[in-house]
Parts: sequence; C-alpha cells; structure tokens
Amino acid sequence: MDKIFKLSKPEVEVLAEKYGTPLLVISTEQIKENYNFLTKHLPGVKQYYAVKANPDEHIVRTLADLGSHFDVASDGEMNQLSAMGIDSSRMVYANPIKTANGLLTAKSVGVNKFTFDSESEIDKMAKAVPGGTVLLRIRVDNPKALVDLNKKFGAQPEDAIRLITLARERGLDTAGLCFHVGSQSTSADAHLEALRICRSLFDEAAQLGFNFRILDIGGGMPVPSLSETADVVAMAQDIRAGLAQYFPDTEIWAEPGRFMCGTAMNLITRVIGQQKRNNQQWYFLDEGLYGTFSGIIFDHWDFELETYKEGKEIPVTFAGPSCDSLDILFRDKLTVPLEMDDLILVPNCGAYTSASATEFNGFAKAPIIIWEEVKDEVLAKTELAAAI
Ligand SMILES: Cc1ncc(COP(=O)(O)O)c(C=O)c1O
Repeated sequence: MDKIFKLSKPEVEVLAEKYGTPLLVISTEQIKENYNFLTKHLPGVKQYYAVKANPDEHIVRTLADLGSHFDVASDGEMNQLSAMGIDSSRMVYANPIKTANGLLTAKSVGVNKFTFDSESEIDKMAKAVPGGTVLLRIRVDNPKALVDLNKKFGAQPEDAIRLITLARERGLDTAGLCFHVGSQSTSADAHLEALRICRSLFDEAAQLGFNFRILDIGGGMPVPSLSETADVVAMAQDIRAGLAQYFPDTEIWAEPGRFMCGTAMNLITRVIGQQKRNNQQWYFLDEGLYGTFSGIIFDHWDFELETYKEGKEIPVTFAGPSCDSLDILFRDKLTVPLEMDDLILVPNCGAYTSASATEFNGFAKAPIIIWEEVKDEVLAKTELAAAI
C-alpha cells in the first residue's frame, strides 16, 4: 500500500470553511486500494466486508462494484444492502446469535448462509431457514488482538463435532467452519493456530461423513499506518502460506472490516473551548465521545490528532461538546498548545467510529462527504490560495 488517505492542512482549511465542522471525509479510492490489496495478497479468498465497521453507503457501493461479498449481522444491515440492490447470495449472516427479526429478514431477503456457535441457535435456524448453509464458529484465543471477540463468541473445539452433528440432524447444510482472531490483530500467529485447529476438525468431520467445503477466516487484519505497512504485507503472506499448507482445496472466505475502511476516512474537528482545570490545559472539540470518538469506548481506539502545528508539547485533556462529564476523549495527551478555532485532523478513523456515533444531547452526527467528489474544487482553491 503506497499511500494512505490523509488530508493536508490547506485541504482541511478549505473543507472546513466550505462545509463547517465536525466533518467526515471518505476516500472511495482508498477503499478500492484496500480491497485490491487484500485480493492481491490473499488471492482466491472471497472477501465478505464486515458492514458493521462502517455501513456508509458509498463504502458499500464501492465494494459492491468491485465484486465484494458482505458480512451482515442484523436485519438492518440485510435490508440496507438489499435496498441497494445487492444480491442476497453475496451476504453471510455472520452473527452467532440471531434475532427473530434477523432470521425473518434473512428468509424474506433470501440470505442463506449463516454462522453459529451454540446449540440454542440450531433449532432457531432449522425452523426459520430450513436447509440453510451453516458454518460453526470456533473459539481462538488471541492476546495480541485489540478487541478480543473470543470472550463472547466461538464454540470450544472439543464441542465442534457434537454441534455440527446436531445441526446436520436438524437438516442444516453443515458446510464448514469459521473463526475470528479478534480485531486489530498484530501478527498472523492466531490465524495460524486457528488454521491448525480447523484442519484437524475438518479431518475429524470427514471421517464422520461430513463434506466440509468452506472455511471462513473472519476479520482481524489491522489498520496499517504508513510505517507499519510492511507488517500487513507480512501478515497476509503468513496467512496465505498457512492456507496453502492446511487448506489448499477448500473455498476460503474472509470478513475484513477494519482493514477495509479504517484508513479511508478522516475527521476534521475544531477547538471550541479552552480552560485551565486543576493545573492542566483542557481543550473542548466540536466532536466527542458520543460522535465519531465513540470508537474510544467501543473499540479501544487511540486516535491520532494532527494539529499541523509545531512547538513544545504539553499534556492536555481533550473533551467533547456535550454537557456530559463522561465526554472526555483523552487525558494527558501530548499536544502543542492550541488556540480557539484551531482545526484538528483525525486520520485513519473509518472503522467503528461513525458506525457507533449517536445524537445524544441533540448533537447531529458529523456529516460525511466523499473526497473524490470534491477533490478538484478543493485542490483548485488550495492552489489559488498558495499563488496569492
Ligand atoms: C463476525 C465478525 N466478522 C468480522 C468482523 C470484522 O472484524 P475486523 O474489523 O477486525 O476485520 C467482526 C468484528 O467485530 C465480527 O464480529
């Protein structure tokens, strides 16, 4: 990956003046680059974009046009994609615990691929979508992930045969296994361990007459920063080698969320208040914990704040605009001193940010614009300003 989407200071100024702040800017070119990266480095792997990471319709449309498939987790996501004309055959309902509305929607929209990890789910699926194609999700521990999903999901490997046998008895099409190593994983170790576990379960299942044909390796690929690009390449290479070793003849799916959209969105926010409290400098921004910065709570994400200023850094507290005392973004964050109205750019904030933003306290969600739609106009203005 040669370039990661990051607006320059003049571009930020032009955009803030025209559209106001807070403002989210998505680059669909970066989405294309990320999709192409995965298809190049994991050839033959069917990519199911995890819509939960960022359901923005421009992102979904860009991926749909590239031929991507989609991991959906709710009736809302299935309805959204269906309304956009995306065929149900391109979706997997990859939520191990499905709601009644979710299953009804799957049936009506025509989604017929599911994941599960518990006995209670088998009966639900057998009744709602008889004969549906199911993958059993296996638990994989991964201390190196930022968000360890395996505390909530995944059947123990020793329960796998019992669960797929029950699913088969209920008439479901037991097509294989899936796993998720946890989000923002920093090495391929957990993937390789999961591949080893799944290989031995595939072999055990074959002896019992199951004809497994699909392995879904989930998400987990990290948002790279430019300096860490080599790690993502190495990680993909390790996964590719593991797939070649353990699953040369199996259909492979993946469910990337964060990697696909994380680098494709920038936030522009602004200092709207300042105050010295208990001997520390505080800056209040016009975007907060209930908005794009919700990723601090839900995703444990540490956002980079680009101030475009130079000088001696001091530890400061950043807070959001709401009247709630929880709305504090960072304490002791090292930053150069700022002034009222200063603009701040937050790069790499495409995943698990606007997706979990709320309108708490009457603050509208930050509007989203598409960089490629405004780029020419913005660049013309920045060039004009530079020439004056
Ligand atoms: C079932 C499932 N698939 C895929 C993803 C996407 O993971 P990531 O964003 O780490 O790629 C998630 C994230 O929570 C998930 O729960």
